[in-house]
Amino acid sequence: MKPKITVVGSGNVGAQAAYRLAQRGMADVVLLDIVEGIPQGKGLDMSQAGYIDGFDCQVLGTNDYEATKNSAVVIITAGLARKPGMSRDDLITKNAAIVKSVVENAVRLSPQAVLLLVTNPLDVMTYHALKISALPPQQVLGMAPLLDAARMAYFISQELQLPIQSVYAEVLGSHGDLMVPAPSLCTVNGRPLTEVLSPERIKYIVAKTTNGGAEIVSLLKTGSAYYAPGSAAARMAEAILNDKGEVIGSCCYLNGEYGLKDVCLGVPAKLGRQGIKEIVKLNLSEPELAALHQAAESVKKLFPILNH
Ligand code: LAC
Repeated sequence: MKPKITVVGSGNVGAQAAYRLAQRGMADVVLLDIVEGIPQGKGLDMSQAGYIDGFDCQVLGTNDYEATKNSAVVIITAGLARKPGMSRDDLITKNAAIVKSVVENAVRLSPQAVLLLVTNPLDVMTYHALKISALPPQQVLGMAPLLDAARMAYFISQELQLPIQSVYAEVLGSHGDLMVPAPSLCTVNGRPLTEVLSPERIKYIVAKTTNGGAEIVSLLKTGSAYYAPGSAAARMAEAILNDKGEVIGSCCYLNGEYGLKDVCLGVPAKLGRQGIKEIVKLNLSEPELAALHQAAESVKKLFPILNH
């Protein structure tokens, strides 16, 4: 029997995550939403696409948490997305209530599941889910550093007119204005980015990366990005199920790593069936480490709103 992955929230990000999981074929996929008909309709649509796209996977759309029982991974995308002019932090009160209810229902039926948060503000919602669930910290993580790294890799590849696969990019910190794109850890065809581009161009790429989500929000006008966010969530779920300790930037609970405590923040982590196998400690430059600490402070400032 294949393991089960549940995606909660059948909006654009949830649907993209579910579809990428179906294509990857390593799990049965349950797509859950409180809105009647949408997850069922999208689930049927995706399952039928298997004939065309060459996969065989049932995506079960449902409004009933019972169908999520014994999931190995629960991807939580439910919540409001921002509109132009909003920051991710503007969503906190409404999304905290939604995440609370999702976590309580999901954990009741799948206490062993790894919770993978996608809902914004991401770092705060990951911490919130960890506290609500009372699960071990390694079992609760968040998606965004992989997404932010994808954006950084894209901008570097565009700057140099190279395939995106030539680039390795690393982003740490919060999924917000204080994210920490880390040029000192990026490479282009194996060469350090800092040797390939001037400090001015690197500064430009860092700014483009930090603004990457907002750029798409301002273009779409009615919501935020979903192809890369959904794909990132599916990719992380795959790494969790594969259990090989693949290192992927993830929002993790820190307990002393990078000199930070009691906060969830983006860092590279080895992933596996239990969630976070190990937080990877990389050598950051002084300004990058300082920026990571600044991101932690800004995320922590939002914790009182959660009322734990
Ligand atoms: C973004 C949203 C998903 O960065 O936070 O596009």
